[in-house]
Amino acid sequence: MINGDMNLILVAVVALVVGVAVTIAMVRYDLGPKGRLARGGQWLLATALGTGVLAFAVKLVLIVAIASLPELTIDPFIEKDPIARPASVRDPLDGLLASSRFLWQPISENESGAAAVSENKQNETAYIWQTLPDTAPAPAQNPTTPDKTELGERLFFDTDLSRDGSLSCSSCHDVLGGSGGDGRPTSVGINGQVGGRNAPTVWNTAFQSHLFWDGRAASLEEQAKGPLVNPVEMGMPSLEAVESRVREKPEYREAFDKAFGKGQPITIDRIAEAIAAYERTLITTDSPYDRFVRGDLDALSPAQLRGMSLFQRVGCVQCHYGPNFSGASLFDARTPFRIFPVYPTPYETSYKLTEDSGASPAGSGRGSWRVPSLRNVALTGPWFHNGSVNDLEEAVRIMSSVQLGYTGRYLVWSDSHKVMTELNGPVLDDESVADIVAFLHALSSDELVRRIANKGDDYSQERGPMTAGLERQRLSTAK
Ligand code: HEC
Ligand code: HEC
Repeated sequence: MINGDMNLILVAVVALVVGVAVTIAMVRYDLGPKGRLARGGQWLLATALGTGVLAFAVKLVLIVAIASLPELTIDPFIEKDPIARPASVRDPLDGLLASSRFLWQPISENESGAAAVSENKQNETAYIWQTLPDTAPAPAQNPTTPDKTELGERLFFDTDLSRDGSLSCSSCHDVLGGSGGDGRPTSVGINGQVGGRNAPTVWNTAFQSHLFWDGRAASLEEQAKGPLVNPVEMGMPSLEAVESRVREKPEYREAFDKAFGKGQPITIDRIAEAIAAYERTLITTDSPYDRFVRGDLDALSPAQLRGMSLFQRVGCVQCHYGPNFSGASLFDARTPFRIFPVYPTPYETSYKLTEDSGASPAGSGRGSWRVPSLRNVALTGPWFHNGSVNDLEEAVRIMSSVQLGYTGRYLVWSDSHKVMTELNGPVLDDESVADIVAFLHALSSDELVRRIANKGDDYSQERGPMTAGLERQRLSTAK
């Protein structure tokens, strides 16, 4: 015990001694004679008064003892000073979460919510949530027709379009029992060659204004020619070789006649147009999110609602916005490309995020990438252009950190400039990350979730009916 406490105990002992002496004297010379008490009565009175004095002294000693205990022992009783916590672990959204975590009371606009909503609308930052339309826009020179999409579907599944006949588009973009990607970190092409990038899903890609991770293709028609002659994908020697392969198969003649007019030559452009037309039918509008925005207010769980609010509040919507959750979509392609990663963090080396620099010239420190759509993203792991992250929570932590500055505290050493910088950003707490992930799950098509759970069993035999089935499903859920 420290000196201050010793002094207090001394005071307590002195108080006790003095108290006892005064009590005895009072009883012996004043109260006793006045009350004409016998010796026994005097002792009784002295004991009664003395107990009070003793209790006071004991209290003093106890207070001193408690105050000097290590803080942890009585931790639950001590009111904490929030400012005393280190800034790096403080949740920047504390206030938001405290007020929103348990409250969910949808207020329709014509009631008391009207004022709040109109105020929010006037506010320039108001964000309007949107659903996907049922049909994708097509370029004027390639209108989508049923005959063309049927031909395109056949081509999409044809392994004869690869050099050794082992791969079709669907080998890496499984639209039957998978997510529309291949579930691998990076794709495997002919002869087992491993590519450098992750296969994005082809679902809803018809709404993207720029295709590929680095956005290098401006249309599905242009994109479709890429994998056919990519040596580590389908490996055909030339686009003319692809044309010949298709011409060699007599069953395609009739299909081309129906799709493009009788006797029209089979060309690589028409092959690409048919495939693109088919891809424009790969749309999912049956996610819980879509149902919610269309008016089914029970479609999202409380965690998903909190995640939806955080997705906006934290700033994910700055890049992943609009009906397709992408800045590179046909709806409003304001910001198709973004630097990734923006903030230097240890994630860079652990997940090799800067090895490939996307649309930036090779070797530039920060890559530039097309903002991908987040529709069905919970189904399309592993994530990022190099498929290096296989946990969605980790992907969200990385995004909030490297794109939005929720970095936590660390040191950045610039070897070229010999400069040390200390970054001290806030971090998203685990609950917020889990809520955002719950919201990302709400962007998954119910039908795709069901198919993946069934491992495509119902569909692996028949192709046509499955896309048609999805079409029916989509139309029946649309309002
Ligand atoms: C060997 C696996 C593989 C095959 C086969 C393959 N792809 Fe891909 N696909 C990929 C990879 C990997 C990417 C991303 C490449 C990149 O960004 O550089 C991709 C990207 C795409 C994209 C862009 C999606 C987006 O959102 O940006 C579309 C569309 C696509 N492929 C369609 C096709 C079509 C059509 C075929 C058949 C002609 C095909 N793919 C064959 C692996 C494959
Ligand atoms: C400044 C723009 C920007 C912001 C803000 C942003 N993102 Fe991203 N996001 C991107 C880009 C660009 C990529 C592609 C990165 C790459 O090359 O792999 C991406 C990729 C992703 C992926 C991986 C997609 C896939 O198919 O692998 C997820 C998941 C994701 N973002 C979620 C989020 C979430 C959640 C937030 C908010 C916490 C967020 N993003 C904020 C630009 C952004």
